[in-house]
Amino acid sequence: MSEEEKRIPRHIAIIMDGNGRWAQSRGLTRIEGHKAGTENLRQIIRASVDFNVKYLTIYAFSTENWGRPKDEVKGLMTILESVIDRELNELNAEGVRICHLGRLESMPVKTSRKIEHAVEVTRHNDRLILNIAWNYGGRDEIVHAIQQIIKAGIPAEKITEELVSCYMFTCDSPDPDLIIRTSGEMRLSNFLIWQSAYSEWYATPTLWPDFNKQEYQKAIDAYGQRKRRFGKI
Ligand code: IPE
Ligand code: IPE
Ligand code: MG
Repeated sequence: MSEEEKRIPRHIAIIMDGNGRWAQSRGLTRIEGHKAGTENLRQIIRASVDFNVKYLTIYAFSTENWGRPKDEVKGLMTILESVIDRELNELNAEGVRICHLGRLESMPVKTSRKIEHAVEVTRHNDRLILNIAWNYGGRDEIVHAIQQIIKAGIPAEKITEELVSCYMFTCDSPDPDLIIRTSGEMRLSNFLIWQSAYSEWYATPTLWPDFNKQEYQKAIDAYGQRKRRFGKI
């Protein structure tokens, strides 16, 4: 890999936060904030292709987000369903492969069917891998991995870091090089706990619906300046 290529994160993961505050500051409903956030995602997906990012992971609905008011949860599920209906053909034509991180069960059947369909339709694409973390929690993912490992009857001495990584929902993706969180919060909120061991962090006060291509470029430039040591000198 050339020095130039090393400056571009191969895998970027984004905690898309701040839709609610964006809406509130405009006297809009939280759902309108989520719609604006979803609109914004379109340009960030396209920008990822332009910037030569290979893997984009977006945190869109956490296992803890079920604790929000019923109407908001329902609204979020409906937004995801309509986004899939509206965008799938175009994303597919652009070579985007959609993967899902999280549990399909315990979601409304209509939502999980649409996700499964999007994953199936785009499975041969490889221009950009778009991991959608929906009904995702890092701790839940680890619990799920342990359950699967035990069910597969794998003996203790065969358990390695590589094997555990393979039992994560992210099995097909390398660990994220860069994690971006919008809206100024400085926490992981149960996102990719296993995979983020050596990820670089970038936080910006910009709220997600306002995080545009220029802001995205700034995050990538900041990454390009980092010295990653992985514990070495
Ligand atoms: C992020 O925006 C989207 C989801 C968590 C679904 P928020 O809804 O968390 O927005 P704030 O943090 O309340 O502003
Ligand atoms: C993290 O945002 C989850 C997503 C962006 C989907 P939250 O808004 O749910 O996180 P907390 O509650 O501020 O930690
Ligand atoms: Mg939030």
